[in-house]
Amino acid sequence: MMMMMMMMDTITATMPEFLTPKLNSTSRYFTTHSEFGDSVSQFGRRRLVYPSRVFAVSEISKLVAEFDPEIPLERASTPPSSWYSDPQFYRFELDHVFYGGWQAVGYSEQIKDNRDYFTGRLGEVEFVVCRDENGKIQAFHNVCSHHASILASGNGNKSCFVCPYHGWTYSLSGSLLKATRMAEIENFASNEMGLKSLKVALWGPFVLLKVAKAETDGSVASEWLGASVERLSQGGVDSSLSFICRREYIIYCNWKVFCDNYLDGGYHVPYAHKGLMSGLDLETYSTTIFDRVSIQECGGGSKAGEKDGFDRLGSKALYAFVYPNFMINRYGPWMDTNLVIPLGPRKCKVVFDYFLDPSLKDDEAFIKRSLEESERVQLEDVVLCESVQRGLESPAYDKGRYALVEKPMHHFHSLLHQNLKL
Ligand code: FES
Ligand SMILES: [Fe+2]
Repeated sequence: MMMMMMMMDTITATMPEFLTPKLNSTSRYFTTHSEFGDSVSQFGRRRLVYPSRVFAVSEISKLVAEFDPEIPLERASTPPSSWYSDPQFYRFELDHVFYGGWQAVGYSEQIKDNRDYFTGRLGEVEFVVCRDENGKIQAFHNVCSHHASILASGNGNKSCFVCPYHGWTYSLSGSLLKATRMAEIENFASNEMGLKSLKVALWGPFVLLKVAKAETDGSVASEWLGASVERLSQGGVDSSLSFICRREYIIYCNWKVFCDNYLDGGYHVPYAHKGLMSGLDLETYSTTIFDRVSIQECGGGSKAGEKDGFDRLGSKALYAFVYPNFMINRYGPWMDTNLVIPLGPRKCKVVFDYFLDPSLKDDEAFIKRSLEESERVQLEDVVLCESVQRGLESPAYDKGRYALVEKPMHHFHSLLHQNLKL
C-alpha cells in the first residue's frame, strides 16, 4: 500500500524523549502512522515507512552530510563517530539501510523439509521463515494479530503456529485457522487477521528476506549481488557444501564497526592476528569493488605456515562483503558466513555459519581444530571492535583517515551515504 509521508513543523507530543532538547520551531520532522510499506516521499526517493517513527530530518541530514563520498579516498575522512553511536541515526539507518533491499537471514538447509521453520530478528522486524505443507517457502512477520505476542520461537518442524499467549493458531501459509473465544465478537473477519507476509527468496545456499513491499524488476541474484554473481560462483560459493555448525557472538559495538574491521583490506592482520598471518600471503592481497559487493582475495601462506600438515585456509582465500551486513568467506574446503545483526547503536550480534566440503564432514579432528582457529581470530576481532567503539565515543575522536588498502571500507561508507541521504 502506498503511504504518504508527512512533514510536520512541531510534533512534540510524539517526540521520543531523546530528541526533545534538540527541538526548535524551525526543525522539520517526518513521521508515519501506518503498517509496513513502501512510500515515495516528497524527497522523491522510494523509502520504507515505519509505524509511529519520528525523525528530526535536519539533524539526520546534518549527520549524513558529514561524510562526502565524492571526495576521493586519498583526501577523504571517515564518517563521524556519531554514525556509530547516535540513537536517532541508528533508527533512521534501520529503515533506510536494512528494510529496503534483500537481506541474508539464514541458509536453505534450515528449511529443507516441508514444515521446517526458523525465526529471527532484523532490526526491529521479527520474522519467521518456513516451508509450508506444499513445499513452498514462506516468510511472515512473526507477530500475532491478537495482542502482538511473538508467535514462533527458535526453529524446528511444525504443522501450524500456535500463539503461546491465547492460543490463536495460524497455518504455515499464514492464514488464521483458529481464534479462540472470538465467536461472539462482531465485525471479526478472520480471513483478514492472518500473518503479514514478507518477501523471501533463495540464492545458492542462502535464504534472503525483503521487508519493503515495492516490486522490483531485476532477479534476486542481480538485485542482491549485482555483477559479482559470476565471481562468487567461480570462487566456490555454492550449495555443494555441507552445513557444520553455527556460532553466535554478542559484541558491544555498533554493527558498522564489525563491518569496517572486515573491510580494511587485511591492514590489521599482521598486528592483530599473528596466528592467521602465517596462513596467508598478504603480498597477494587484492580487492575488487562491485556495485553492492566488495571481494577481497588473498593467496595462502607458505607451507611453513602449516602445522603438522594441518591447512584450514588452503591455497586461496576469498572474502566477500555483501552490503550492508553479510560476509562470505571461502577458503580451502571451508565456507563461513558472518551475518551482522544490529541490536542497538552500541550492540550487535554476529552469526557465524560454517559449511565444509562434504568429503571432510566426518573428519572430527580437522573440524575441531579449524573451528578453534577460527574462534581465536573471531575473539581477537571482538576485542578490537569493542575497543574501537569505546574510542569512537571518546571526546578525543571524531573522524579518521583511510589507508589505500581500506578501499572496500570507503566503498561501504559511500553505499551507506547513498542510502541515507535525503
Ligand atoms: S497475543 Fe496471540 S493469541 Fe493473544
Ligand atoms: Fe580480523
